[in-house]
Amino acid sequence: MYQDKEMLASIAKVEAKRAENIKLDPRRMTAEEKEVLLATYHPDYKEDQFSRLTVGPNKGEKVPLELAALLQGKSRIAGMDLDLDHPAYDVDVLIIGGGGAGCACAIESDNAGARTMIVTKLRIGDANTMMAEGGIQAADKPNDSPAQHFLDAYGGGHFAAQKDLLYKLVMEAPEAIRWLSELGVEFDKAPDGTMITTHGGGTSRKRMHAARDYSGAEIMRTLRDEVLCRDIPVLDFTAAIELLKDEQGRCAGAVLMNMESGELYIARAKCVVIATGGAGRLHYQGFPTSNHYGATADGLVLAYRAGARLLYPDTIQYHPTGVAFPAQIYGALVTEKVRSVGAMLVNAEGEVFMNPLETRDVSAASIICECSDRGKGVKTPAGAAVWLDTPMIELKGGPGTIEKRIPGMLRMFLRFGIDMRREPILVYPTQHYQNGGIRISVDGMSDIENLYVAGEAVGGIHGRNRLMGNSLLDIIVFGRNAGRSVGEKVKSVTPAKLTLSHVADFERERAEAGITDQTLSPKLLPDYTRTQEPRIDQDAR
Ligand code: FUM
Repeated sequence: MYQDKEMLASIAKVEAKRAENIKLDPRRMTAEEKEVLLATYHPDYKEDQFSRLTVGPNKGEKVPLELAALLQGKSRIAGMDLDLDHPAYDVDVLIIGGGGAGCACAIESDNAGARTMIVTKLRIGDANTMMAEGGIQAADKPNDSPAQHFLDAYGGGHFAAQKDLLYKLVMEAPEAIRWLSELGVEFDKAPDGTMITTHGGGTSRKRMHAARDYSGAEIMRTLRDEVLCRDIPVLDFTAAIELLKDEQGRCAGAVLMNMESGELYIARAKCVVIATGGAGRLHYQGFPTSNHYGATADGLVLAYRAGARLLYPDTIQYHPTGVAFPAQIYGALVTEKVRSVGAMLVNAEGEVFMNPLETRDVSAASIICECSDRGKGVKTPAGAAVWLDTPMIELKGGPGTIEKRIPGMLRMFLRFGIDMRREPILVYPTQHYQNGGIRISVDGMSDIENLYVAGEAVGGIHGRNRLMGNSLLDIIVFGRNAGRSVGEKVKSVTPAKLTLSHVADFERERAEAGITDQTLSPKLLPDYTRTQEPRIDQDAR
């Protein structure tokens, strides 16, 4: 409920201008305007928030300070002498991560007959997939094409996407929708059975397929059911804290840690797939996040220490519309679909200051500009914010549109006495997605033989900015792709003696570079309340 006098006065201004605003179709910014805006206001351009790596495959390149500390961090098993000759688990395919990408991968790996196991530090389905709201892109309508989808995503990503990866993403998108539908995902459909599709920021066609505004939860529900119905083994509350290699330098398993007891286990595998998701819980530059509790960039750390190169680790996506008020849901996602179905962004004076469907980096930078240099933000307990004028949705789409199209949003705000059908909501950018990640080739393999990657831990599919709905798509396309690849690859892998020499090598490199920071990595969980690191029980088996 809004009680603050300034907020109420600002709402009155928004209401006064609504009838005029609703008729506006604000022009898109030119490329030059976007460049200046991004360079001035986007957090990726704040040089003092980045540092250059001094060890590892990306030595000399810049990454966020918080990520640098982990990539160059100290191994949790540094100095330990683990028995690698008697693995507790011996499988064909070890998948690290139980989100959408991990599950899609497991299903295809299982289809190929590979003995597959998922390990996840929380529970299967505790992942950013579950939190995704707005939808999944696929060019499957007569007025659209994968080529058009490619152009939108390539431009939106600042022409930096790896073309072969993006090509695969858009070409296989229609099949991804079919596959999900056949598995049981209930996409929104018109009475005649055709899929309802909407625009997202930066799309030239309506190609966003959704399940109301809980698209990710619907997809995750379906994938998780499929994994469990197939009896694919899943180790919940089990983190991978280091990769294992074999004497030929190939990836060959992982050191696992029980999150509750601290016990360590050796898991040998012919192929390993990193599907560990993103980094929102590192809270770059102090931003809140839309991400789930376990999003701490673990996969990047494991792969980096083992020698895999990262691509674009310096580019982060701040979703323009995180909740800015009330404090209880600060940083939670307000899906872009709210704008797709008609809400516009307005400042404290009730003025429309941008086209609501600019790409995310541009939208986030515009909001930051409005709240900082232009001084047109609404004061909130956490700083400043702008309005998302949600009552416009019902004026455009008719009464009941909000309940029908974005019921999750409606309920989230109603819990705090804010009825978005009648009142606007306050938003500000929130850390949402890591555009960069581990470099892969088109079959999903990283620089390290037999180490594959899928989902948000991959870098390069989207370039330097991802469009809405291309992440749910990439977890399916590249999750399945990795599953098929490893399913085939394991047929030709003969296991060899396991080693952790790369960990010792990395420790040596750290020492030679003069790194004295004792930050342990991977981080595993954010430390909002923790005063001690989780205990490792080295002797337990
Ligand atoms: O706004 C959203 O619903 C987020 C979607 C996405 O990140 O793809």
